[in-house]
Amino acid sequence: MREKMVMNGVDISRIREDFPILKREVNPGVPLIYLDSTATSQKPAQVIDAMDDFYRRSNANIHRGIHKLAEESTGLYEHARNRVAEFIHAPSARQVIFTRNATESLNLVAYTWGRANLHPGDVVILTEMEHHSNLVPWHMLAAEKNIQLEFIPVTSQGYLDLGEYQRLLNLGPKLVSFTHMSNVLGTINPVKEIVRLAHQAGAVTLVDGAQSVPHFSVDVMDLQVDFLAFSAHKMCGPTGIGVLYGRKDLLESMPPFLGGGDMIKRVHLRSFAPNEIPYKFEAGTPAIAEAVGLGAAIDYLSFVGMDWIAGHEKEIAAYAVERLEEIPGVTVIGPPAGDRGGVVSFTLQDIHPHDISQILDSDGIAVRAGHHCAMPLHDRFGLPATARASFYLYNTLSEVDSLVNSIYKVKRVFGS
Ligand code: ALA
Repeated sequence: MREKMVMNGVDISRIREDFPILKREVNPGVPLIYLDSTATSQKPAQVIDAMDDFYRRSNANIHRGIHKLAEESTGLYEHARNRVAEFIHAPSARQVIFTRNATESLNLVAYTWGRANLHPGDVVILTEMEHHSNLVPWHMLAAEKNIQLEFIPVTSQGYLDLGEYQRLLNLGPKLVSFTHMSNVLGTINPVKEIVRLAHQAGAVTLVDGAQSVPHFSVDVMDLQVDFLAFSAHKMCGPTGIGVLYGRKDLLESMPPFLGGGDMIKRVHLRSFAPNEIPYKFEAGTPAIAEAVGLGAAIDYLSFVGMDWIAGHEKEIAAYAVERLEEIPGVTVIGPPAGDRGGVVSFTLQDIHPHDISQILDSDGIAVRAGHHCAMPLHDRFGLPATARASFYLYNTLSEVDSLVNSIYKVKRVFGS
């Protein structure tokens, strides 16, 4: 049993104090143990307060008025864009586009860059470990444009088969689109190397950073990615806002996504001229308070320190893998302890993950059960579903102990 509350010099109880929801009891006398941050993270008071303050003091539409509140709210919205650019080391805030979420960012690339640049027979390389949001937009485009989709296979240990990737590159792909970190396996893919090889083959790269940007430092200049997509709600920010980072020349040459206010320079009855980037891709009133919340989330994560967060999650995930694998009947999928981010998916004999999750819930433990929006990856492992514990900066080793104790309870209930 591990009671360690100070990990690598940081007192986790002080971090936990910042998250009001962690004080909640899910049933009388049963405190919440939140192990579902891969689905969505909890929010610190600093983010909740920043959004509350925005609505109480500064609420107005942006880029439209010249009154005090409109200027204030425009300033706050653009400040958030600057904070995002700094956080991912983008060369310019103009390369940061606000969307609804990572899914919309990925769809935006498929819909605009893909439609303009991909032609029948062109090859797009994806991987077997993608979330549905980096599969279905390409299926839709393939149906429309007759492009050819190829997939980097996943090894039995949960890594991408990079030898097979090199062979696929001989097909001369136009795009390589892949996840930075698997939301099921916790595998952290070697982005820099995958991008380098893609560029050598003349392909554009799109990285799904939904599970990486919240959990460790991501530098788009160092990685040389052409596009990066992620969501605020998985990084202590609110739902309803996401980001697409893109290379300037690509964004400038892409047609707009949605049409409407703010994305235009000039409109005539029968034509329009699109606005500059990033506004060209931000039609209509955007999620302004949510942008403020995202900026506050980035301030919060930066204050705690991304390197500490990464190390903390790695330590918890390694401990979870080790302890879960000690339980007779538990099978953990994905890379070994110590070589994964804070995600641990497992099965327990033939007990359905929904049943596992329900019993854990009676102990206040929130995990996700199902295919986690990655059906093809589950097919790869011959599994209809898994139970998934996922960790973030506020989780503790003793919460892993509670998970393990509760899994023994599942075994007792099912007599296994
Ligand atoms: N993509 C999120 C997850 O994996 C929703 O749970």
